[in-house]
Amino acid sequence: MRSTLNNPFVPGSDTVPEVWAGRGEEISDFHRQVRPRRLAGAYERGRVLIGEPGIGKSVLASRIAAEAREAGDLVLPSLRIPRGGDPIALLAGVVADAVSAYSLGERVGSMATGLLDRITAIRAGVTVTLQGAPAGVPHRELTLALSALARTAMDDGRLLVVHIDEVQNVDRTEHMSQLLVALGDVMAETAEGTDAAGNPHERHLPVAVTLTGLWSFVDGATRAAGATFARRFKAYHLGPLEDVDIRTALAPFTSDGWPILTDDGPAVVTASADAVQMLLEAVCGDPFLFQLVGQAAWNASTGPVIDRADVAAGIREVATEMTHHAERTLERLPRAERDLLDALLSLPGEQRTLTAAGRELGKTPQQVATTAKRLEMRSIIRRGRPIAVTSRVTEALIGGRWPTAPDEDARGR
Ligand SMILES: Nc1ncnc2c1ncn2[C@@H]1O[C@H](COP(=O)(O)OP(=O)(O)O)[C@@H](O)[C@H]1O
Ligand SMILES: [Mg+2]
Repeated sequence: MRSTLNNPFVPGSDTVPEVWAGRGEEISDFHRQVRPRRLAGAYERGRVLIGEPGIGKSVLASRIAAEAREAGDLVLPSLRIPRGGDPIALLAGVVADAVSAYSLGERVGSMATGLLDRITAIRAGVTVTLQGAPAGVPHRELTLALSALARTAMDDGRLLVVHIDEVQNVDRTEHMSQLLVALGDVMAETAEGTDAAGNPHERHLPVAVTLTGLWSFVDGATRAAGATFARRFKAYHLGPLEDVDIRTALAPFTSDGWPILTDDGPAVVTASADAVQMLLEAVCGDPFLFQLVGQAAWNASTGPVIDRADVAAGIREVATEMTHHAERTLERLPRAERDLLDALLSLPGEQRTLTAAGRELGKTPQQVATTAKRLEMRSIIRRGRPIAVTSRVTEALIGGRWPTAPDEDARGR
C-alpha cells in the first residue's frame, strides 16, 4: 500500500513538504504581526530569513506565501536571484507578469500613468544604457511600479506579498543598494486611507517583504545600506529543527496514522515509536535529512507500518547522500571558523568557552570572538557559558559518528 506515489516526504526545495516541522515563531510572526499591521496601515519592517543551505528558508517563505494567498492576499511569485543577476530588472519582470496575470493593467495603469510602460523602461534602462540615457532611474521606476501595485491591493483590502530568494547572489554593491532602497521606499510610503470610523488618515501601503538567503547577504546589505538596512529589515536566523518539532510532525504516524490513497481506496500508514526514535537520531534536526530519510524509510517496504528495520534500510539507502549533505556544510566554512569549531569540539561540553578554545589555537579570547560570532550567525554554535554546538550534523560528522545507521537492524531483511 505504501508506494513512491503516496510518499508524503519530499527532499527538495520546490514544494512545501506535507510532513512539516516547527518554524512556528516565524509563521506566527507573519500572521500575528506583519500581516495584520501592514493591512491596517501600520509600519512594520520587512523580514529576512537567514541560514545555511538546506536549513529550510525557501520552503518556509513558500509556506507563508501559500497561507497568505489562501487568506486572499496578492502574492507575487517568488523571485530567485541568480548569481550576479540584476535584482531591479528581475523584480520588474515579476511585477510585469503579475500585472498581466491578474489583469490589473488597466487599473494599475490608470493609477500610475502606464505601469507596463514603466516596467519596459526599467528593463530598457538596464539593458540599453550604453545606447542612450535610460527612461528614468530604474530603481525609482520600480518603486513607483510596486507602489502602484500595492495601492491596487489596498483598494481591495488585500496585502501585497513580495518574496526574493537567494539574495546573497546580488553581488554588486550598487545593485544591493538599489534593491534595498526600492523595497525600503515602498514599505515606507504612505497613502491617504480611512480609519474604522471612516475618517481620512495617513497609512502605510499594505506590502510585506521577505528576503531569504545565506548569511553573507547580511554582510553585503550592511555594506550597501549600513544602519538603514537594520531599520528596514528584521532578521531571523534559521537553525536546525528541534527534536520536539520533528516528533510533533510525525505524531500522526504514531496515533491515528497518516492518511493516504491507494489503488484500493483510502488507508492509513503508521510508524512504531522506536522507528520514529531512530529517524530522529539519524537526522540530527536537519530539515533536508528529515525529508530524505523519511522518504527512504517509507519506500523501504510496502506495508501499513513503518518499523525500525524500514528506517535502518532507508538510512543505508541514502547514507552517501546524507554524508554529502553534511560535508557540504563543513566545506563551506572558512579555515578560521573550521579551526575554532574543531577546537570547541575537542573540549568536553561543559568546558567549551572562548578562552579554552582560544588556548587550543594559541589565540586570545578577543582574537577568536569575531570568528565565534560568524559561527553563531550560521546557527552552528550558540554563544554562552559554555558555548553550545547547535549543529548536531556538524558535531556528528567531525566526531566521526556519521552517518548513524545501525547495522544490526539491517540484517534479516
Ligand atoms: N520546517 C520544515 N519541515 C519539514 N521539512 C522541511 C522544513 N524546512 C525545510 N524542509 C525540507 O528541507 C529541505 C531544504 O529546504 P529549503 O527550503 O530548500 O532550504 P534552503 O532554502 O534553506 O536551502 C527541503 O527538502 C524541505 O522540504
Ligand atoms: Mg533555498
